[in-house]
Amino acid sequence: MPVIDRIARLHGDMTAWRRHLHTYPETAFEEHQTQDFVAERLREAGIEVHRGLAGTGVVGTLSVGDGPAIGLRADMDALHIPEATGVAHQSVHAGRMHACGHDGHMAMLLGAARYLAETRRFRGTVRFIFQPAEENEAGGRRMIEDGLFERFPVDSVYGMHNWPGMEPGCFAVRPGPVMAAFDIFEIVVTGRGTHGAMPHLGIDPVVVAAEIIGALQTIASRAVDPLDSAVVTVTQVHAGDTWNVIPDTATLRGTARAFREDVQEAVEAGVRRIADGIAAAHGAGAEVRYERRYPPTVNHESEAEVAARVAADVSGSDAVDRDPPPSMGAEDFAFMLRERPGAYVRIGNGPCGEGCSLHNPTYDFNDDILPVGATYWARLVETVLDADA
Ligand code: NI
Repeated sequence: MPVIDRIARLHGDMTAWRRHLHTYPETAFEEHQTQDFVAERLREAGIEVHRGLAGTGVVGTLSVGDGPAIGLRADMDALHIPEATGVAHQSVHAGRMHACGHDGHMAMLLGAARYLAETRRFRGTVRFIFQPAEENEAGGRRMIEDGLFERFPVDSVYGMHNWPGMEPGCFAVRPGPVMAAFDIFEIVVTGRGTHGAMPHLGIDPVVVAAEIIGALQTIASRAVDPLDSAVVTVTQVHAGDTWNVIPDTATLRGTARAFREDVQEAVEAGVRRIADGIAAAHGAGAEVRYERRYPPTVNHESEAEVAARVAADVSGSDAVDRDPPPSMGAEDFAFMLRERPGAYVRIGNGPCGEGCSLHNPTYDFNDDILPVGATYWARLVETVLDADA
């Protein structure tokens, strides 16, 4: 069962919506124009609109008779990246860009909403969840804290993300972990500053920090079961201001990823043990801040099966990868999957040459897949909320 005819006829509208959103990208919790645009499109379709969860969030509700409720989620935010695509719909907001395709995610869900409101071939309630601040700031958690699932109850919740490097319109979904947990850490090493030519009069925090960086590499290789996955990456090193002064402090920052809580615990314990131990060995101090930002995104078994079946109906079973390798990237849809059963699928954005990966300044969402993604959402609703069941 390919793309739905009515949705194919919405391709032009969805493309125009997507490009409009691309031209005016907004970042975490500042998605005001985006919120207006999404709310207006839902209202035009005759869908009841609620604004304001997590500030700039939008929830649309469409009910047909009595039945279960399903949540469909799209993320709304852009990234702090100066765009370098050169396309006609390039961002006019300096330093901000839809480089993760959230513009396309919104357009696909709006297309599905339009179709479902017109055809109403289901029994139950659909919640169209437009979520701010997916990147770094956990807008998904904020919506839940603001009462998303109490005020707009659902029995299951589904998400979708475009995936560069996968053939356009193909799908990938599996039960279990699909995206990693996202932790951050900061280590402030305190030594004692002194003249760069007289190190014996102080305690050099730069040398201590360098040893810590090296030793942190042993967490994934020596402290985690080789059959599990973990990443510990130092992304920032800050110390000193001039050539001939040993500073008082050195600061390291980084991120850690894992798929299970016990692995996260091992990583956090390792970061603390190494920082404290190496600092102490040199007579320095280390203050460690370790923060768990996003939990792992874990698909539920039967919802992942439903998603795979619907994706196969839309694109053919050969076009559905039912066992894709999980990604070490992170996703705040994880918070919703901890509250309600559901599944997060990938939709292929097309072949990936140089520079078309997510979060790259030359990335652009592939408008060809808009009708495929919208059809997936529509068929998912018509399957889970089957009017004839
Ligand atoms: Ni994204």
